[in-house]
Amino acid sequence: MPEGSAPEPVDGTLAALRAAVMACKRCDLWRPATQTVFGEGPAKARIMVVGEQPGDQEDLAGRPFVGPSGRLFDEALEELGVDRGGVYVTNAVKHFKFVPRGKVRLHQSPNAAEQRACRPWLDGERERLKPEVIVCLGATAAKQVFGRKFGLMKQRGQWQLLDDGSRGFATVHPSWVLRQRGSDERERAYRGFVADLALLTEFED
Ligand code: URA
Repeated sequence: MPEGSAPEPVDGTLAALRAAVMACKRCDLWRPATQTVFGEGPAKARIMVVGEQPGDQEDLAGRPFVGPSGRLFDEALEELGVDRGGVYVTNAVKHFKFVPRGKVRLHQSPNAAEQRACRPWLDGERERLKPEVIVCLGATAAKQVFGRKFGLMKQRGQWQLLDDGSRGFATVHPSWVLRQRGSDERERAYRGFVADLALLTEFED
């Protein structure tokens, strides 16, 4: 299927969307990937979290945010008393993009065409879940949701109004926190990450 085309229509359920995404060949990222990583969480979730793309461990497990970034994210939610089980977690791009380097697979950022090709799936998840709040982790997700002009470092931790009347905000990607050199820098980055995510505490049931 050409990258710019609309996907085949699927019915309004999350299960039908998932089935379509699992078979997606709208760009070439499906070829080397182990599997599609679709979103996970309750269909009634009030909070939707959007990351960039699955990493190595997510690609193998078929689940979003189960590797090192996911563990840091879980730690932050736990600190804030937010139950991840009540949150729907997904990614802007549903396949892992990487280059092999010996025994490891090095993450590569998805390009604009790959992000565009995957866009209908994120839109489909949003239409079906209608979350009250969308949290974007990192610039790729934030630009998909809030628009190309969104500036992560200037606008992180600030509520944004979305077209459908819902709200959202962005924070840094947990992998950015993990990449900080030195324990002081890393601790500062982590504290900032938690402070941004604290906007979520008003949405806990
Ligand atoms: N990074 C992401 O953006 N998403 C995942 O699911 C894992 C790591």
